[in-house]
Amino acid sequence: MAGYEGKAVTSDVNSGTMIYEPILEEGVFRFDCSADDRNTAFPSLSFVNSKVRDTPIMGTHTVPSYLPTFECVLGQQLVKIELPPGTSFYGTGEVSGQLERTGKRVFTWNTAAWGYGPGTTSLYQSHPWVLAVLPNGEALGVLADTTRRCEIDLQKESTIQIIALSSYPVIIFGPFTSPTDVLISLSHAVGTMFMPPKWSLGYHQCRWSYDSDARVREIARTFREKGIPCDVIWMDIDYMDGFRCFTFDKERFSDPKSLVKDLHLSGFKAIWMLDPGIKSEEGYFVYDSGSERDVWIQTTEGRPFVGEVWPGPCVFPDFTQSKARSWWAGLVKDFIANGVDGIWNDMNEPTVFKAVTKTIPESNVHRGDTELGGCQNHSHYHNVYGMLMARSTYEGMTLANENKRPFVLTRAGFIGSQRYAATWTGDNLSTWEHLHMSISMVLQLGLSGQPLSGPDIGGFGGNATPRLFGRWMGVGSMFPFCRGHSEDDTKDHEPWSFGEECEEVCRLALKRRYRLIPHIYTLFYMAHTRGTPVATPTFFADPKDVRLRTHENSFLLGPLLIYARFFFFFFGYELLGLDQLQQVLPKGIWLSFDFDDSHPDLPALYLQGGSIIPLGPPHQHIGEANPTDDLSLLVALDEHGKAKGILFEDDGDGYEFTKGGYLLTTYVAEVESSVVTVRVSKTEGSWKRPTRRLHVQLLLGGGAMLDAWSTDGEILQIVMPSDIEVHSLVSASKKQYKIRMELASARSS
Ligand code: NOJ
Repeated sequence: MAGYEGKAVTSDVNSGTMIYEPILEEGVFRFDCSADDRNTAFPSLSFVNSKVRDTPIMGTHTVPSYLPTFECVLGQQLVKIELPPGTSFYGTGEVSGQLERTGKRVFTWNTAAWGYGPGTTSLYQSHPWVLAVLPNGEALGVLADTTRRCEIDLQKESTIQIIALSSYPVIIFGPFTSPTDVLISLSHAVGTMFMPPKWSLGYHQCRWSYDSDARVREIARTFREKGIPCDVIWMDIDYMDGFRCFTFDKERFSDPKSLVKDLHLSGFKAIWMLDPGIKSEEGYFVYDSGSERDVWIQTTEGRPFVGEVWPGPCVFPDFTQSKARSWWAGLVKDFIANGVDGIWNDMNEPTVFKAVTKTIPESNVHRGDTELGGCQNHSHYHNVYGMLMARSTYEGMTLANENKRPFVLTRAGFIGSQRYAATWTGDNLSTWEHLHMSISMVLQLGLSGQPLSGPDIGGFGGNATPRLFGRWMGVGSMFPFCRGHSEDDTKDHEPWSFGEECEEVCRLALKRRYRLIPHIYTLFYMAHTRGTPVATPTFFADPKDVRLRTHENSFLLGPLLIYARFFFFFFGYELLGLDQLQQVLPKGIWLSFDFDDSHPDLPALYLQGGSIIPLGPPHQHIGEANPTDDLSLLVALDEHGKAKGILFEDDGDGYEFTKGGYLLTTYVAEVESSVVTVRVSKTEGSWKRPTRRLHVQLLLGGGAMLDAWSTDGEILQIVMPSDIEVHSLVSASKKQYKIRMELASARSS
């Protein structure tokens, strides 16, 4: 450490340039106001391993490209980083409003925010993190490593200002060649996401609440009867006995095991809610056992804090203590035995009713583990409460069965939450504005280390119209986490609730998702193992192209571009034609395609030249998939006549893949003398290639494609038709597309 001490830029105690030392890997630096601050900093809760943040690395000779300055005033530490003019800002976690963040301010303070708007400055999660894309397309990331309330001020062009209680380290990642490189580096610090069970990438149907087992069965049956793909049904708070966590209503959910058994028989999983507010009631086993173990958050007087949530007066587990986390994990373990496939942690900011601050008093006391920061008041741990609850829930699910991948959804979170849980964007509204914002919100979470997120499709509060619902399902079916949900006093919001045309749109949208599952699952495997993002803004295709940096109505799933068509509704009227005009694609080759399903309510799809993506059949649920299913490869050649893509396959659950039990195939395509050869160029993993048919679809543009069949693993050759033939295939396909779109418009108007 001493060797680096010498490199530190000395500064005066109140203001100056921050001192630095290299940590983690080449190009990553930790900055502090002084050596004293460095030595006394609170442990990192964002880093997987706090020691990594605190240990300088040796042997690197690089120096930081940008040196933050600081000013300490009245106990606050203000950090300023000035970047070249023309820098674009992203990240800052779960934020509403525009994708490009210049001009915005965010306050990290996990807050229940029903019906938030584009200007709401604190939502349910905290990511004191900015991803800055420099004018030349290089990027760097800035992490303010504090759990405390933190202001991230991006109002001034190309300047990042961070203000929080002193003192806290700032970590700068990069500049690296691309924003993806920054995210990979960030994942080395804060961890990659948990490996999701494959079923969790299917469609999820939720509502507050399917309030009896009969209703749950009816919903499940309707999905299958109507041929609309779905994998999961969610149980919101009303399944509980009087909102007591870990209990079931004796009449409406009298036999959860049989319910789940039936759901499993028809290919559904069941996810159940657990909130942190535990009813303060003697005789209730959770309250009694928690009190016995002394796990509750305390007031300054040393008594359990009591605040009101759904069940009335509640106490709150202090997840900063390992004894509380293991107590909770034990309860989760037992709960799983009822037939619980996944757990939904809600209200874990934590939310308290009838409190002006909507949460527990900042003066409350957490007797936290030393390695987390020790005994501190709530203001110190508020932002990590949800993450620690999710962690404990995740650990409980692992205890129940270490060979199954846990699935936890958390509302509150912190940078690093992706290690334990997926998330959703909270209580949005059934409006066009919220549909629009949902894209940027999912993308920002992805740019802040959380790849598995999605909005309540259709909107939580209020009633969707058929058009809004269909379009939301159209784009929502392409989000990493795909769940429909609605508030308790709304009309039904299932895919069939809005008439036949909307039902068909939902069916088409979800069938698309299920066809894309092999590609989506591969993206998640990469996210888990390498830290690459899953859904990214369109500018990721070409970070140098500044035209793309504010694009909010399209996004990428790897090389797949999804172009939504929905901005043009104002007061319910569509301004026709604008969507076509707005389709600015990144430079290079982008070939459009569909599944013979184009519809004005579904997004347009493009595949980037040079890529191959794997597709499967449109199953009704993921459990229907079989390694021997036909495998389709969608191929878009680049300007050199080449393309490449990967497919990850394993059991879809469990951890055999960590011991080599998987198959990762690289497929390549290359054109030579008018013959396109498609073959396997590389494989990894101990799985034998399943015997199955291979269907190659070579995109020609304008939605046209050439089909060819062979056996997977064998070399397949396609003779390219002449230019004239290609031309006529393309125009026939465009004509088909036009007819399909006109018919669909006529049906839905
Ligand atoms: C608030 C959550 O955000 C919402 O999704 C849920 O339905 C309600 N709590 C009721 O549990």
